[in-house]
Formats: sequence, structure tokens, C-alpha cells
Amino acid sequence: MPVPLFDTDTPLAPLHDAIRSRIAEVLDRGTYILGSEVQAFERELAAYLGVRHVIGVGNGTDAITIGLRALGVRAGDEVVVPSFTFYATAEAVVNAGARPVFCDVDEATRNITVDTVRAALTPRTTAIAAVDLFGCPAPVPELGQLGLPVLEDAAQAAGASLGGRRAGSLGELATFSFYPSKNLACFGDGGAIATDDDQRAELVRALRFHGSRDKLTFEHVGYNSRLDELQAAILRVLLPELDRWSAGRRAAAHAYAAAGLGRYVTLPVTPDGAEPAWHLYVVTHRNADGLAGALAARGIQARGYYRTPVHRQPAMAPYASGPLPVTDRLAATNLALPMSPVISASQVRDVVAAIAAASS
Ligand SMILES: Cc1ncc(COP(=O)(O)O)c(C=O)c1O
Repeated sequence: MPVPLFDTDTPLAPLHDAIRSRIAEVLDRGTYILGSEVQAFERELAAYLGVRHVIGVGNGTDAITIGLRALGVRAGDEVVVPSFTFYATAEAVVNAGARPVFCDVDEATRNITVDTVRAALTPRTTAIAAVDLFGCPAPVPELGQLGLPVLEDAAQAAGASLGGRRAGSLGELATFSFYPSKNLACFGDGGAIATDDDQRAELVRALRFHGSRDKLTFEHVGYNSRLDELQAAILRVLLPELDRWSAGRRAAAHAYAAAGLGRYVTLPVTPDGAEPAWHLYVVTHRNADGLAGALAARGIQARGYYRTPVHRQPAMAPYASGPLPVTDRLAATNLALPMSPVISASQVRDVVAAIAAASS
């Protein structure tokens, strides 16, 4: 049977009526920007994460740019970022006026570590951007020992946790994307910033609205970057489902391991105390593209991510730094296998059987 890489439709199908009626409420109310839905969603996501403030913004990229500025990053500063991530993490650093300094990642968890970050620090470093890659939390509390503010890019990790704390509550400030394929997704672009710090939250609120607190006085050069009422209304229907969906993703990861997938490919390693949300279930294989082709012939979708890592992208040429051997190896050998909250144990077994057949 064909197995898709993602399945975003099946989990949403039972919620269509609830979503339609919430959209109708917004239409009846006639307020589309920064109204009661955004406020309620901000409160509800803050309660879910266990943080004091959530501020909705236009998308996950703006969330990083605004978040870095709220952490005090200024023009000419350096921010340490992984190269093995979606391009937006580093792009946002440049848009905040700073210089991305790329660091390597750990081969097993694919995340940055205290050691890889330390190798990239200079006297000009003013922040660290840690990505919870593929939904697995980065060691953000440990990174805090380096004495610099850590922005947690939790775009891929809604529903994950580390040491009993939710991804998105692990550093000084965290950012989310609600892009339609994300674990907590809206029906367009959307993002949010989470923080416990009252002053940073106030600055973020001003920066998302042209640098103004009252629409009369403009204290900063900011952005027009707001989560809108319709998206917030949809997200309010989906947030209560997130833990169940994340449990479905974790059950699928366990099913992959139980079905013997580790005999044919290298599985992702879960750090101690982490409950990943497996936005993507990414294995490695020395001939990843060849394996993807063999799976496609059997109706199974699989895809390599970030084959050209960010530090090798043309726009990042001005920021090229030292060698990143683990990043280059992971970029060449990774392969995302089918994953969703509703992928069944038998679909997982079909994927593993197809990989076994392709490997014989
Ligand atoms: C790790 C990471 N950071 C940032 C982003 C940017 O989010 P958005 O597309 O909402 O701007 C994404 C997703 O697209 C992402 O995967």
C-alpha cells in the first residue's frame, strides 16, 4: 500500500465542523487583526507551555528576527546558529542585523551542543539560536551555561518536551511556526514568541506592530507581523489535540524501532529526558537518495532534508566559516521516512519491509 511522507488531512478531518463554526464566529464579529481570538490563543498557548507570555506574530521567520532583537541582538553582533536546519533560522539572524556564525551538530541527535557552540564563540557573540531539529529538543538548558541568551527555535517541536518542560519553554525566549505542515499548524502563515520575561514580551509586542505600544508613538523601527484572528481561531481548535497527536508520532517512532528498522538504517537518538514530537522521522543511510528511489518504486514517499546545508547556500557566502563535517555528512545521508500522528503500525511495517527488500 502507498504510504505518504506526511498526512495532514486525516487528523484534521474530524475537526472540520468545529473549525468552520469558529471561523463563522470571527466573521460575525468582524475583527480580523489583534482581537479577542489572538489574545485567547496567546493565553492558551502560554498556559500549555508553562510560560508567562506568548505573542502571536506573522510567521516563524519573523518570530526569530523579532525574538533576537528582544534578546538584545544588535547590528554587527554575532549569533551562533546550526547550519543543519531550515534556511530561515540563519536568514532571520541576518534580518536582525547580525552575523550568523555556523556551528556543527551532534551526529546522533542532529542538534547543536555546548561543545559545538563553544567552538564558534567569539567576543562578538551575543546570542545562540538553538533549533529543536525534526522535533527533538536541543539541550537548551545546558547551552545556558555558556552565559549567553538562548533563542529556542521550536518551529518543528510543538508538543515535545525535555526534562518535563515543554519545547518552547526551555530558553530565555522561544519561537514557533504554524506553517500548515507543522505539528501545530494553521491554514496559512502564523508564528509566535514565548518568554517568561515581562520586558522582552513588551518589546516583542511593540516590534510586531511597527515598534509602537499605543499606535500613536513609534519607539522602534519594527515590523508589521501579526498573527491574524482567523488563524488564531483555528489554532485554538487544534491546540487541545496537540498532545494526542504528539503521542501518535512517538508511537510511530517506537513502532519503527520495534519493527527492526535499525538493522538497515541509523535511527535518530533521543537524548535522556527528551520526549521528541517527531515532526519528521529522519534516519541516515550511506545511499539515502538511492534508498528513496527504491522506496518510491514501492509507493513509499521518503525525502532528504537540507541536502545543501545553510552555510553552503549562495546567500550565506559572506558568512562562510570553518568546516562543519558532521553537518555535511548528515546533509548527504539523511532521509525522512513517513511520519504523522495517524500513521498506523501496519503502514510502519510496510515501510520497514520495503526498506528491508531494497537493502537485500
Ligand atoms: C526550524 C525552522 N525555523 C524556522 C522556520 C520558519 O517558519 P515560517 O515558515 O513560519 O516562517 C521553519 C519552518 O518553515 C523551520 O522549520
